[in-house]
Amino acid sequence: MLHADASLVPDSIKTKAEFWTHVHDQLEILVGGQRHWVSNLSNAASLIYSSLQAFPSNFGDGERSVNWCGFYLISSLFPQPRFTDASMDPKFQTHASTNMLLGPFSGRPACQWIEVSPRPRGVCGDAFVKRSTVLVPDVLTYPGHIACDGDTKSEIVCPLILRKGGEDIVLGVLDLDCLAIGGFDADDQVGLERIAALIIRSSDW
Ligand code: SME
Repeated sequence: MLHADASLVPDSIKTKAEFWTHVHDQLEILVGGQRHWVSNLSNAASLIYSSLQAFPSNFGDGERSVNWCGFYLISSLFPQPRFTDASMDPKFQTHASTNMLLGPFSGRPACQWIEVSPRPRGVCGDAFVKRSTVLVPDVLTYPGHIACDGDTKSEIVCPLILRKGGEDIVLGVLDLDCLAIGGFDADDQVGLERIAALIIRSSDW
């Protein structure tokens, strides 16, 4: 199969539950045992975004479509620079564990870092510290929402949680934006949380 064909959605798929199961299974095939998170999350963002565009009957098309899908990750996961500028603002240094940095995504450009501590920022920061999915039907009513794209109307953010040695470690978040109010529901939450779990167990961290 051509890799791009993973994002095709067969006509037999009618419901959101069937759709998310299909995307999950396609991602498992794409990953194929390769365990680097940069590659796996890159294909995950593209696959989710492209599959949603190919499933307009349930997610709307044009003005109702999903306009962004991507990851923010704790900065300690990123390669550390070998040559740093001592005058750099500490919050922009990649070893600052209080930040999430923009990871692989599909869609238009977005903010590059999101503060988590001491004060979580945005929907992403809230999902990170709560360790649970945050569904936002209308971003204009969400206190502290970070607007990266003025066209976005609703959002869902799902944390990426690694269970290691009896401890839960939040590695980042999976974030989706939609051009419609109320673009996401509980079925999307279930589907995305299952995909997040696949991503976590398929990659080395
Ligand atoms: N709206 C997010 C910021 C990231 S963008 O949507 C891509 C937030 O409030 O955390």
